[in-house]
Amino acid sequence: MRVLLVGFGVVSQSFAELVDHEAKKLDHDYGLRPKIVGIVDRKGAAISPAGVDVKKALNSKKRSGTLEGLGHEVYHEGRTGIDAIKDVECEVVIEATPTELTKGEPGLSHVKTAMMEGRHVICTNKGPLAIAMPALIELAHHNGVVFKFSGTVGGGTPILDFAKKCLEGSKIKSISGILNGTSNYVLSKMTAEGVAMKEALAEAQRLGYAEADPTYDVGGFDTACKLVITSNFVLGTSMSIRDLDIKGIAEVSKSDIEGARMRGNVIKLIGKVEKAARVAPQEIPMTHPLNVSGTFNAVSFDTYPAGEITLVGKGAGGKETASSVLRDLIEVRRTFAR
Ligand code: HSE
Repeated sequence: MRVLLVGFGVVSQSFAELVDHEAKKLDHDYGLRPKIVGIVDRKGAAISPAGVDVKKALNSKKRSGTLEGLGHEVYHEGRTGIDAIKDVECEVVIEATPTELTKGEPGLSHVKTAMMEGRHVICTNKGPLAIAMPALIELAHHNGVVFKFSGTVGGGTPILDFAKKCLEGSKIKSISGILNGTSNYVLSKMTAEGVAMKEALAEAQRLGYAEADPTYDVGGFDTACKLVITSNFVLGTSMSIRDLDIKGIAEVSKSDIEGARMRGNVIKLIGKVEKAARVAPQEIPMTHPLNVSGTFNAVSFDTYPAGEITLVGKGAGGKETASSVLRDLIEVRRTFAR
C-alpha cells in the first residue's frame, strides 16, 4: 500500500520509524506492506516511487531539519503538499501537519484534495475536523474513500473506536474527560511538585507533547477540538469548535491548586458534552476516575444501562499517536485491500 506522508513532525517521524521497524510483523499479521512513496515537510518533498529511504529521511531531518539529505533526485525543494497529493501515485495520504484553528489550513485543503483525488485519508491534524468534520465525512463518502482520524483524540488510546464499536446498543448520556495531555502534564506538575505553569509548559514542549502553538493546549482549544470530534463521531452531532464555550488553564494559580487540595480535590481541565459542550478547569475529588496524572487522558462515558465507563491512556506523544495511525492504516487495508 503506497503512502504519502504530508507533514513530517513528531508523529509522522514516529510513524515512519514504526512501520520501518515492524515491516515483517505487519506483513505477516495483516498482509500490510506500507511503502512510503513520498514525505512532504514545510520546505519541500521527497518522492520515490520505489519507497523513500526512511532511515535516511529521519537522519536528514535530525541533522538539518529538512529532507535534503535524501539527495536531489529524491528531494524537491519548494514542492508543496497539494502538489504531491495531486502528482504522487498512492493509495493513502496521511495528513499530519500542525493544527491550525482559524481556517484549518493547510490541513483542510490537503484532506479535501486527497479525497477528491480518490485517496484514502488518515488525519492526525485536528484543525480540519474541528472546523469542517461533517462536510469532510460527506466528501469522503461521495468519493468512496476511507477517512480515519483515530490519532486526533487520545493519542494512542482508542477512544473513538472504543465508543463507536464497544458501546453499541448502549445509550451514551454524556461524555466528559481530560483530553489534553499537555495541560494535564502542566497541572499535574504544578500540583505534585509546585512548579510554575511556564516551567511545566516548557518541559511539555521539550518532550514533544505540546501543539506547535501551545496556547492551543493551555487555552483549552485542543480539548475543544477533541470534544467536537468525539461528539460528532460518537453522538452523531454536527458541531464545530465555534459552538463551544471554552476556558483554558491559563488563570489557574498555585493558590487555586492548594485550595482544592485542602478540600480533598484536584483541578483538571475537563471537556464535557451533554446537552451543550464546554471546556473549563474544574475541581474534582482526588478519588474521581478522571484524576489521572501526567500526559494521561481519561474519558468517561455515562451510559445506560451500564453506567459510567472510563477509558484511560497516554493522550500525547509521537510513538503513542503513531500507533493510532497504524491502526487506521490496518483498517484501510482491511476495507480496500490492494
Ligand atoms: N498537544 C496535544 C496534547 C497532543 O497535549 O494532548 C495530542 O493531541
